[in-house]
Amino acid sequence: MSNITFTMIKPDAVANGHIGNILNHITTAGFKIVAMKYLHLSTEKAGEFYGIHRERPFFNDLVSFMTSGPIVAAVLQKDNAVADFRTIIGATDPKKADAGTIRNLYADSIEANAVHGSDSDENAANEASFFFSAFERY
Ligand code: RTP
Ligand code: MG
Repeated sequence: MSNITFTMIKPDAVANGHIGNILNHITTAGFKIVAMKYLHLSTEKAGEFYGIHRERPFFNDLVSFMTSGPIVAAVLQKDNAVADFRTIIGATDPKKADAGTIRNLYADSIEANAVHGSDSDENAANEASFFFSAFERY
């Protein structure tokens, strides 16, 4: 069990002014930020990041959405990081997300759902390396 996960604050939440509230929610829940950057994904990079979903019907919409504005990317550290972070973000569809979760509080729709969270230790490591070099992690 790894102690890191990878997150993005997605374009909807950035555009709606929720960066500060979401980072506060994350750190209050006991996660330490060990890397962070603010950037605008290219279509190529977004497609590569979500390559696992390439055959899904929502893939093109997802890439368009993820390139519609800047995001915040971060690596988070905590015991049981992947599972605990999935718990505090809530279900993919904010209508199904538990009360008080980040998606319940800040997301608009199943696509514009405020945050990304890694779904396994292996993907957390790969996603963190996709965005950050060893020199950018503390
Ligand atoms: P994420 O990877 O962003 O943390 O989200 P997740 O695991 O909860 O959901 P996943 O199945 O991995 O889907 C990735 C992202 O694709 C968008 N999506 N749209 N229109 C749709 O039916 C649909 N389903 C998924 C969401 O932005 C979702 O977070
Ligand atoms: Mg996912």
